[in-house]
Amino acid sequence: MDALRHVKPVVRGLRAYTLQARPATVKLDQNENPFDLPEDFKREVVARALARDWARYPEFDPTELCAALARHWGWRADGVLAGNGSNELIEALLVVTVGDGTPVLIPEPTFTLYGLLSQVLGGRLVRVPLGPGLEYDADALSRARREHEAPVTIVCSPNNPTGSVLALDAVSRLCDEADGLVVLDEAYHEFSSQDAVPLLARHPNLVVLRTFSKAGALAGLRLGALLASPELVREVNKARLPYNVNFFSQTAALCALERRSLLDERVARLVALREALIARLREQGGLRVYPTAANFVLVELEAAEPKAVYEALYARGVLVRDVSSYPRLSRCLRFSVGSEEENEALLGALREVLAPVEAR
Ligand SMILES: Cc1ncc(COP(=O)(O)O)c(C=O)c1O
Repeated sequence: MDALRHVKPVVRGLRAYTLQARPATVKLDQNENPFDLPEDFKREVVARALARDWARYPEFDPTELCAALARHWGWRADGVLAGNGSNELIEALLVVTVGDGTPVLIPEPTFTLYGLLSQVLGGRLVRVPLGPGLEYDADALSRARREHEAPVTIVCSPNNPTGSVLALDAVSRLCDEADGLVVLDEAYHEFSSQDAVPLLARHPNLVVLRTFSKAGALAGLRLGALLASPELVREVNKARLPYNVNFFSQTAALCALERRSLLDERVARLVALREALIARLREQGGLRVYPTAANFVLVELEAAEPKAVYEALYARGVLVRDVSSYPRLSRCLRFSVGSEEENEALLGALREVLAPVEAR
């Protein structure tokens, strides 16, 4: 019996999105917020959850949450969809737009989930390489979009794992050039100085994705959002699973929005820590540091082998992300910006690990 023959061949040919979840005292591999929310915040969320009947489903449409998200980001509530992490909304969006042979324009390298899900759905990936310094090449994106008449163009800005940003005027131009959707994933936007939401009013083909997993310090509770025109949101909503956001996560997100200054202060600290980390990495030598507008830094090793450095850092208690299997990044590692102590631990471990290579 070969039950697997009923799985789509394209799916059987793909590699799953996986992560080596290794325990570590200094965890800098997932671009998480190193500053957990304070205990009084957590107690408030738990208290509100205790006041509710857990045997009942959450609201059919999380209207209070969507209204609060809309106010927070400056968009209309009927143009907001909440999800169990933004990953879930990426999936819903691709489900309603990508079918057999649909060209999906994807910069390379970028967040792998887009390519994986597009292929599961039968889409045809059109990969557009980033520029020589791993910056976005807006003209190349436009050209490829025209040539392939791509109905879906993905742009993560800041991009994961490079940290690159596509300027808002280039986003606007892309939206103006054709009616294909431009999906702007702003998972890290709080760490950059860009906000694409004001563009939504002018561009009915723009979709913005946001998450509470990074600046929001709620990765464990899974909360993401999709912002677009109400007409488009109504269509994506058809592929959203019923009751996708549990009431606990909804409550936590509402509490986070009520205490915005708590998160803003953490973002400001992380941006300062990022700049300090970049300066120290540049002094370190033996590596090239790419510009970043996110809460992580991509480095290219000059002489050392990324896999060996990754393991040597791990042996010293520091877990980073080995991105050397990504296209164009065969010599690269990615470091999340951690707390001051975590960044010191990373820098200390790197010094030890890279010194013997440089001394050769
Ligand atoms: C660009 C990008 N989009 C989306 C996500 C997923 O976020 P969420 O935790 O909201 O599913 C990530 C996570 O690393 C990401 O890097």
